[in-house]
Amino acid sequence: MDNRAIGYLDSGIGGLSVVKQALKQLPNEQVYYIGDTARMPYGPRTPEEVKKFTWQLVDFLMEQDIKLLVIACNTATAAALDDLTKQLPIPVVGVIQPGIDAASQATSINNIGIVATQGTVNSLAYYNGLKKINRNFHILQLAAPTLVKIAEQPQKDDATVQRLVTNILSPIKNSDVDTLVLGCTHFPLLAKFIQEAVGEQVKLVDAGAAAVNVVEQTLDNFAIKHENDNRQIRNTDKYFTTGDPETFDQLAKNWLQISSLSVQHVDIWD
Ligand code: SIN
Repeated sequence: MDNRAIGYLDSGIGGLSVVKQALKQLPNEQVYYIGDTARMPYGPRTPEEVKKFTWQLVDFLMEQDIKLLVIACNTATAAALDDLTKQLPIPVVGVIQPGIDAASQATSINNIGIVATQGTVNSLAYYNGLKKINRNFHILQLAAPTLVKIAEQPQKDDATVQRLVTNILSPIKNSDVDTLVLGCTHFPLLAKFIQEAVGEQVKLVDAGAAAVNVVEQTLDNFAIKHENDNRQIRNTDKYFTTGDPETFDQLAKNWLQISSLSVQHVDIWD
């Protein structure tokens, strides 16, 4: 048993899609979350820079004494998971392998689409991971950096968002994939627009939500679950942002459907 918090990191608010699933699936586990909103997006940055920023967020979370780290960002997972797993004294969960596993089980015709940031696409992490499971998988990768920006906008006009998303995802719509991996944790925030754009017949795989199963398994494997069935624990969750705490608060409350959150600004300098 271990009553310390689970730490989540992301370039911005996207990792909240992982937290949303964790709040449902692991209601007794305390959440510490940091979003590097001031320096997002990570997708167009070099792997070296993403790794450096990720380590800075990790150092901050380690100072808060977390028991397990979730890299709730695909770009950061692609750039830093191996390094973090080797060097940290706590278990680390990334979002890419759970997405690969879920997609390989979801496809019926072996045609899988990946929509992700440029960094994740360039890393070939999904492509290589899927090919390792089945070399007959046909994989279509699409970099969609604009979706990250849309997800981070506090005010969204549904009709405009749908038009943009439909346009961006037309290569997927015009392909024969039956499964689409949301290979960026920002994208589940746009799931209804994405589903409409690609058609109901395409199964969406939320890699971040799939990662929560791995978090649950890891808590068991390391015997580090919270000991209490503590219904008050949500009051002790902490959210940190390197950007504007009010914008973060508004987006997070709306997405998590929680009326009050503890959101603090932190400076993480180079
Ligand atoms: C981004 O900051 O570009 C999105 C991060 C992700 O891959 O989830």
